[in-house]
Amino acid sequence: MQNKIVLAYSGGLDTSVAIKWLKDTYHADIVCVCVDLGAAKNLEGIQKKALTLGAIASEVVDAKAAFAQDFLLPALFANALYEGRYPLATALSRPLIAQELAKVAQQHDAFAVAHGCTGKGNDQVRFELTLMALAPHVKVIAPAREWGFTREEEIAYAGKHGIPIPVTVNSPYSLDVNLWGRSAECGSLENIGLMPPPDVYDWTTSPEQAPDAPAIVKIAFDKGVPVALNGNNMALLDIISELNRLGGLHGIGRIDHVENRLVGIKSHEIYEAPAAVVLLEAHKDLEMLVHPKDVTHFKTAIDKKFAEMTYNGQWFHPLMGALQAFQARLQEPVTGTITVKLFKGHVSVVARESANSLYNFSLATYDKGDQFNHQAAVGFIQLFGLPQKTLALLHEKQLAAAQS
Ligand code: ARG
Repeated sequence: MQNKIVLAYSGGLDTSVAIKWLKDTYHADIVCVCVDLGAAKNLEGIQKKALTLGAIASEVVDAKAAFAQDFLLPALFANALYEGRYPLATALSRPLIAQELAKVAQQHDAFAVAHGCTGKGNDQVRFELTLMALAPHVKVIAPAREWGFTREEEIAYAGKHGIPIPVTVNSPYSLDVNLWGRSAECGSLENIGLMPPPDVYDWTTSPEQAPDAPAIVKIAFDKGVPVALNGNNMALLDIISELNRLGGLHGIGRIDHVENRLVGIKSHEIYEAPAAVVLLEAHKDLEMLVHPKDVTHFKTAIDKKFAEMTYNGQWFHPLMGALQAFQARLQEPVTGTITVKLFKGHVSVVARESANSLYNFSLATYDKGDQFNHQAAVGFIQLFGLPQKTLALLHEKQLAAAQS
């Protein structure tokens, strides 16, 4: 008989309560899985805690490298910002976590997979769409959507069953953290008329308190992939960690977003994403330098679609694969070095170099050496403006006829 449920376990209150609740409600054995995406602390403790709370197995999956390579890199190639602001840290992590859950479910021949999402957010959609695409026969259970506990009832349930209540229960915010960023919602953030309290930030110095001297960083890209910082070759994971540290120090990457959720509501989120903001800025700038105008303009529309589909949990949709193939193909010339300045909450591109640069000094200069054909502009303007001129002449004629 199949009687196992694989639970996405974080060590927090909801998923800890879920172990006991699932066991009792479904008379099943619980296998916990914690996916390491570069932010969780004390994974060993989390792993042990699941066993203490009655799971029959507890696995920690180190998915950092896969996250960087298969999720963050495509997002960078897509210059991905949902609604022009949110670098999608949480959204990018869900399909990977769900993919790992599906694998473990198969290994354990589990009949169901469970996650701790509520019925109001985007994450339930992302988990479940991924599972529908990768493991269509596996049942999905969302305890927090089913049990109907208030916060107090949940804490009481935990107390009654000896489930430790983590100190983070007292945190006023709901947090989600990984390599690509930190997302905070709830608490006083729900009142959008109030400024976010300083304690909502954890990764970034406030711009006011950031160092008075800027940091200048040279970021080298090879076919769209960040490969070195200030001339030192580094693995993508290390580049991201270092830019999170340095960018955070300079107050970079604070994002205050009232966003449109997939489930129809607007919600207020505070993001911190120093590395994402810096890398996206640099990558986009280099793309603009090496791509012809038509490519840049057309790709912008494709990139927007990528961000929306990622936000909406459609990572394993066939259209997503096609968008990614398009974006990957266009990384071919994206090789070069972008110099950024990090200063008091702002990242700005201050210098660019690329063997594939389409910036041509002799065409651009207003000084000696100008090779632009100024005379060609005359004929160009005549033809470019011809439709407008034709219309204006017609209007003139019609006006004259009406007045006579
Ligand atoms: N609103 C963001 C998203 O839908 C982040 C949600 C993360 N969860 C949290 N507890 N802050 O991707």
